[in-house]
Amino acid sequence: MAVTSYAPTGLTIRTAEDADRPAMALLEATCFGRWQAEETAEVWRSMMPDGGMVVACDGSDLVGQAAYLDLTLTVPGGARLPMAGVTEVAVAPTHRRRGILRAMLAELHSRMAGYPIAGLEASEGGIYGRFGYGPATVVHKRTVEGRKAEFHADVPDTGGVRIVRPVECRDRLEDIYERWRRQHAGGLYSPPQLWDEVLADRETARHGGNPYFCLLHPDGYAMYRTRGDGEEKNVEVTKLVALTADAHIALWRVLLGMDLITTVTAWTAPDDPLPYLLTDPRLVRTRSVDDGLWLRLLDVPTALQARTYAADVSAVLDIGDGRYALEVRDGRTRCVPATDDADVHLDLSVLGSLYMGSHRASAFAAAGRLRCADAGLLAQLDAAFASSVAAQLGYGF
Ligand SMILES: CC(C)(COP(=O)(O)OP(=O)(O)OC[C@H]1O[C@@H](n2cnc3c(N)ncnc32)[C@H](O)[C@@H]1OP(=O)(O)O)[C@@H](O)C(=O)NCCC(=O)NCCS
Repeated sequence: MAVTSYAPTGLTIRTAEDADRPAMALLEATCFGRWQAEETAEVWRSMMPDGGMVVACDGSDLVGQAAYLDLTLTVPGGARLPMAGVTEVAVAPTHRRRGILRAMLAELHSRMAGYPIAGLEASEGGIYGRFGYGPATVVHKRTVEGRKAEFHADVPDTGGVRIVRPVECRDRLEDIYERWRRQHAGGLYSPPQLWDEVLADRETARHGGNPYFCLLHPDGYAMYRTRGDGEEKNVEVTKLVALTADAHIALWRVLLGMDLITTVTAWTAPDDPLPYLLTDPRLVRTRSVDDGLWLRLLDVPTALQARTYAADVSAVLDIGDGRYALEVRDGRTRCVPATDDADVHLDLSVLGSLYMGSHRASAFAAAGRLRCADAGLLAQLDAAFASSVAAQLGYGF
């Protein structure tokens, strides 16, 4: 039981134990306002490394918890990095704003040796920037009025979609997702027990929707739920994976071709070609633009050397607690600690936001959060970090 030095006065922070489970389940349910099935909690626990979960205790009361998963993240260019996926973060409403989250994160970060990068999904946008995490992917929630949608005459109609039961096609789904996540920045390896959990399709995971429906194409699939009844029935696509443009078109043709459905909602990358498929692109309404994955670079040289860049660049980056020389030339990248004068000043959270290519250095410069006196270098940074395909988080955790 590791008692740490980070804990606020009167509290202890230690590794979670089996005996803590009932108290953790109660804390999490209280903080998020819903109960998680014990089987679901067990799946996430199975993805945590030893010592990957800590709790904060006030005497015998468990008042905080935080954990990280052992994940594998695909970065721009296709390399895959071990990522510590921070999750299950909760502090009792009786003990908020006295530094418990700060203490638990400090402890978890100290345990992440060997992970060049940490990631999370944030319940609120104002929490994690101060801890060095920056929003690194962008996701659009889109709604289409299915009945009105007409496909443009130039869009091919190749078909190939079958209606299937997801459990009966598990191998196909796993194979398609696996190929997708290896090719796409933001992709995450999904272990078998997570597939078991998805396909178990628990009542607690449906949030009032119907059990899964599934459309399968040789190069893609869509899983969706329906909601509502009578006058208004809506489709909510929980996952659409397409390895080819034909698969993307074919799946959307079926989704938008359903009778008796009012709207189809899906979460897409910003560059998803969905609006271009239709004669009336306005039917594709962007309901919200959200951050998905937040990143904190734990080992800056390893993380920056792992991805590829779209253009050459050479700069000394000052990220507050260290300086790094980044040199990208002719497809080779070198990043090493440096003592030279810095060309670019930014904090760790901004570097996390630039990493996947979803946000531009020049936009942070315009906001005053990245300083670079050389306009030409700023343009080179934009060009180098840009990614031709928008990064997308493989799954929520
Ligand atoms: C979010 C939560 C974990 C914060 O825990 P906490 O112990 O109160 O946080 P701390 O006291 O360590 O706060 C550290 C800093 O973050 C800030 N902060 C904490 N929660 C914040 C929030 N929701 N929005 C903005 N700032 C927040 C604090 O003001 C403090 O700021 P400082 O750096 O100026 O001192 C807790 O409120 C909670 O459990 N919320 C409900 C569940 C949830 O949202 N979990 C996060 C899942 S990603």
